Amino acid sequence: MDIYKLNFRIKWIIVLLGIIVIAGSLVYTDYLAKRLVEREKRLIDLYAKALETAANQQPGGNMAFLSEQIINANTSVPVILSDEAGEPLSSKNIEFPGKFTQKQEDEFLKKQIRIMADQHTPIEIEFYGMKNYIYYKDSDILTMLRYYPYIQLSAIVFLSLVGYVAFNYSKKAEQSKVWVGLAKETAHQLGTPLSSLFAIRDYFKEIEPFKSDPMTEELAKDIDRLNVITARFSQIGLEGKLSNEIVANVIEENIDYLKSRTSSYVEYSMVDQTNGASAVMNISLIGWVIENICKNAIDAMDGRGSIQISISPMKNNICIDIKDSGKGIPKNKIKSIFKPGFTTKKRGWGLGLTLVKRIVEEYHGGKVYVLQSGIDKGTTFRIELKASI
Ligand SMILES: Nc1ncnc2c1ncn2[C@@H]1O[C@H](COP(=O)(O)OP(=O)(O)OP(=O)(O)O)[C@@H](O)[C@H]1O
Ligand SMILES: [Mg+2]
Repeated sequence: MDIYKLNFRIKWIIVLLGIIVIAGSLVYTDYLAKRLVEREKRLIDLYAKALETAANQQPGGNMAFLSEQIINANTSVPVILSDEAGEPLSSKNIEFPGKFTQKQEDEFLKKQIRIMADQHTPIEIEFYGMKNYIYYKDSDILTMLRYYPYIQLSAIVFLSLVGYVAFNYSKKAEQSKVWVGLAKETAHQLGTPLSSLFAIRDYFKEIEPFKSDPMTEELAKDIDRLNVITARFSQIGLEGKLSNEIVANVIEENIDYLKSRTSSYVEYSMVDQTNGASAVMNISLIGWVIENICKNAIDAMDGRGSIQISISPMKNNICIDIKDSGKGIPKNKIKSIFKPGFTTKKRGWGLGLTLVKRIVEEYHGGKVYVLQSGIDKGTTFRIELKASI
């Protein structure tokens, strides 16, 4: 199984496990809360009965002591005793938020009665033939138990997000270091033999019999090509300079080069709808991008077909669309093609489009994506670069 499929599966397994843990924790706390609600209800029922018994007893009756014990045992559930008209008579386990006058306390308790009535139906008790009501609300523990899973979940989600972003960032930074390091090293390694090749080329160009030998011309072309490749690597390492360049000219130059090197069964065409507009770019790196996309296009059409390039303006950008007549990219693969190592070719490295993306997005602040693709209908890649102002 390829690494991206495996990564995708692992991600889904982690998400699924996360959902199971979260759902399990929610269900369990809900179960605990329900049991606590039942217990508190029983406690209050008992409390109400004890209160009723205590109030209706003669002082010093046998039940007085027991009732008092039960009443005192409620140290957690907030209760308010009110008369029939809803006027608070007494309260237990209710904390006033400050130093209150009698009137303020009454107001506060009335407000609490309304809150309590929303939570639970009050219990009716009788004092010497008069109706009284016991209002009560969830204890602090129960309230905490109801909210705790959500607080816990928010914390877990927040931490996971922070972890994910940090991990991705460090992964990207690491990849970037490898790219830049490798490119710099390659340019450096190629530099030394290249300078001696330049000297040999110049020598051959001046001395007979090499001077008039057509081989010398070919050799010079290859050495120049090597120089272009080295320049590309060193630009990647150095974060190459950007300048204003006429897009159509840059594309044309690159197509001319490709034409001379690829099968004559590939037809190239270019339409410039910008009237020679320029964009901000590094010529040697954009050349690399065009080359990579066109080489992929040629591979996709097995060396026979057409490559149509069109340059058009779009807001502050210039779009370069490269359309081929190749076999197209399956829908479920489009997301993966820019990932390093993704290839469907026997001899591919899966690095071409990764490099393309890096050059366009990180060096030019532009965009590159598949504009359209259909099986056996060809593919269009779009590059967006910032237009020169
Ligand atoms: N124009 C296209 N038409 C169809 N498939 C494409 C096209 N361009 C890219 N692909 C698919 O995307 C994959 C990745 O392309 P990429 O250029 O990154 O790597 P590669 O060409 O396989 O190897 P290399 O590192 O040599 O470029 C290709 O293997 C191919 O399956
Ligand atoms: Mg490629």
